[in-house]
Amino acid sequence: RELPLIDSFGRVHNNLRISVTDRCNIRCFYCMPADNVQFMPRRDLLTFEEIERFTRAVVPLGVNKLRLTGGEPLVRRDLHLLVERLVRIEGVDDVGMTTNGILLAEQAQSLFDAGLRRLNVSLDALSPEKFREITRREGYEKVIEGIEAARRVGFESIKINAVAIRGLTEDEVVPFGRFARETGCEVRFIEYMPLDADAAWERDKVLFADEMLRLLEEGIGPLEPAPDQDPKAPASDYVFADGVGRIGFISSISRPFCASCNRARLTADGKFRNCLFSLEETDVRSLIRGDATDDDIRSAVRASIASKWEGHEINTSRFVQPTRAMHSIGG
Ligand code: GTP
Ligand code: 5AD
Ligand code: SF4
Repeated sequence: RELPLIDSFGRVHNNLRISVTDRCNIRCFYCMPADNVQFMPRRDLLTFEEIERFTRAVVPLGVNKLRLTGGEPLVRRDLHLLVERLVRIEGVDDVGMTTNGILLAEQAQSLFDAGLRRLNVSLDALSPEKFREITRREGYEKVIEGIEAARRVGFESIKINAVAIRGLTEDEVVPFGRFARETGCEVRFIEYMPLDADAAWERDKVLFADEMLRLLEEGIGPLEPAPDQDPKAPASDYVFADGVGRIGFISSISRPFCASCNRARLTADGKFRNCLFSLEETDVRSLIRGDATDDDIRSAVRASIASKWEGHEINTSRFVQPTRAMHSIGG
């Protein structure tokens, strides 16, 4: 067993987020341009074999938690076959997926059968009109059907991710609180981050966690910090005082969790990123497609993690937005 992936701030990296495509079937304004998106050419995408090879190379470094992301991962053909390959790797304890849910109703069973047990579904509004405004596409009913299908199939954990935007989603907060209580799905509100394609993010558009907490308490009832909070999770979790309903806040702007970050990323075109906001990447595709050994891959990954910065600088004047928008990083 090798040394774990520790950076110069002592953070241990065991969580790998694997983006399988930069394509998406909707166009959320905080993530993608409206039209004329330049997608990666197919030959640039890592194949399932290549993703498995990379993952097997880094698992000995202590990587035991994987998450498939996109774009929208379910637009990648036969994704369940990748799930199958990943869940059987010895040392991998947890494989999750983050999806927009549009194709979930048709794929939930095959994903479950392949061994997937945890799903995070992105849904920013329970009002169809607001959904259309944010995603610039149809699909609200499909997402709701997808969540229902996943619940029927028996996934162990289904969380809803709702990006919160000032002036747009305030009215969604209390309905989502009720949704969490009715379905048992945790709803996590995410502060809008500067990762949009149009660089239109402004601090004034961030709806902050403490404001949403207040809206929920006024509209529904008191919330208490969850007794089983995972210290490594990005969300601060709360439960309603009557025990029904769990709410999370991913407060990347108002309370960054960089100090406890355990994340690394592989983009669909085979670039390794040590931070969501990193400005530099390591080209592991050329290693994988060249004659590099697994040791060479591990050395490249180690070097990237060793050079990781302390955290994002959104709250400073030094902040520089990455050139990749969210859909091509993977969230
Ligand atoms: P689990 O905790 O395993 O359920 O997954 P997760 O919450 O890590 O994954 P998910 O893809 O659902 O991410 C939820 C939100 O957290 C998304 O908006 C992500 O963009 C955001 N997020 C994920 N990783 C990072 C990160 O490294 N830094 C910041 N600032 N935000 C992140
Ligand atoms: N800010 C915050 N969250 C975002 N996501 C996508 N773009 C942004 C952004 N600019 C979320 C998606 C999904 C997750 C992968 O990232 O809604 O839940
Ligand atoms: Fe697609 Fe997710 Fe980006 Fe929305 S946030 S455009 S669902 S990748």
